[in-house]
Amino acid sequence: MAQHLPLVTDECVHLVSLGVGTGAKDGMFLETMRRANPSMLYIPIDMSAEMLRTGSRTAVREAHFPLDRSLGLQIDLSLDGNLEELKLFLDRLVGDEAILYSLVGNTVANFDDDGEFLNGLAQVLRPQDRMLVEFASTENLSQEAVRAAEAEYRQTRGFVEFVASAVRYNTDLKIDLDQIRFAGSVENESILLKVYWQNVGGEALRMLIPGSRPIHLEPQDTIRLYTTRKYTSERIDQLVAGAGLRTTHMQRERFRHTQRPSPFGLELRLVARDENARVTLPTFDVWK
Ligand SMILES: C[S@@+](CC[C@H](N)C(=O)[O-])C[C@H]1O[C@@H](n2cnc3c(N)ncnc32)[C@H](O)[C@@H]1O
Repeated sequence: MAQHLPLVTDECVHLVSLGVGTGAKDGMFLETMRRANPSMLYIPIDMSAEMLRTGSRTAVREAHFPLDRSLGLQIDLSLDGNLEELKLFLDRLVGDEAILYSLVGNTVANFDDDGEFLNGLAQVLRPQDRMLVEFASTENLSQEAVRAAEAEYRQTRGFVEFVASAVRYNTDLKIDLDQIRFAGSVENESILLKVYWQNVGGEALRMLIPGSRPIHLEPQDTIRLYTTRKYTSERIDQLVAGAGLRTTHMQRERFRHTQRPSPFGLELRLVARDENARVTLPTFDVWK
């Protein structure tokens, strides 16, 4: 995690964390940024109340960050209306002072339309703001790499439990972890990995979700549990440019310590709004 720190710029005063998760990385960012700007604010954001509560608490505790300088927001960042509100709210809160947005942990890859998601976030950025985006990367798109990506996720028991947990907690479906499938493919210069449950039995199953009608799952029916990607640098360039952003700093790291040589790694980009970009965006005209 320390590798993020050279890109955590002290040109920015405040930290807005887009998807806090465990909060461990935020803790490190806060420590670095607060040294340069002791009066900074920390705005952790997550759709999950649980992640927001536990993650931001961890970050604040690990960085010895004052609680009264932190303000959590539980919102869904994939909704344009929420991003519009967020921008207005932050404008009122910090005025012209620069904000560092952190979008780390390959979060962008979890969205069905990753390009559209990044576009939406890009519109929140003002010229003085920066966004630190972390992408999982691949050096090639061979079938071997696709199979290796499937294996990487499949063999982590904790991850398989995690993807099953939403269905387990919110429905009465008994999920057998052996029925979870990992399907990799090559799409848009990246490896797209979909993780899904499948009714592999010969009979329809009835699934109950509190507050709605029972759902019948016919044999072979699937439930998508998770989407992620490993990007080539070319695709990352496309995503960044497509969102009207430019890379100001970049850092690449290859996965070492693997049994076999791996094409996978991480790519960190510090991005800013590209004032010369002509992005035609259907929403948020008010900000142009
Ligand atoms: C892959 S984790 C990354 C967590 C953290 N940034 C890290 O690097 O460890 C993605 C985080 O984003 C949150 N998240 C996912 N979709 C979201 C959405 N639509 N709006 C807000 N938060 C979301 C998840 O709850 C989770 O905490």
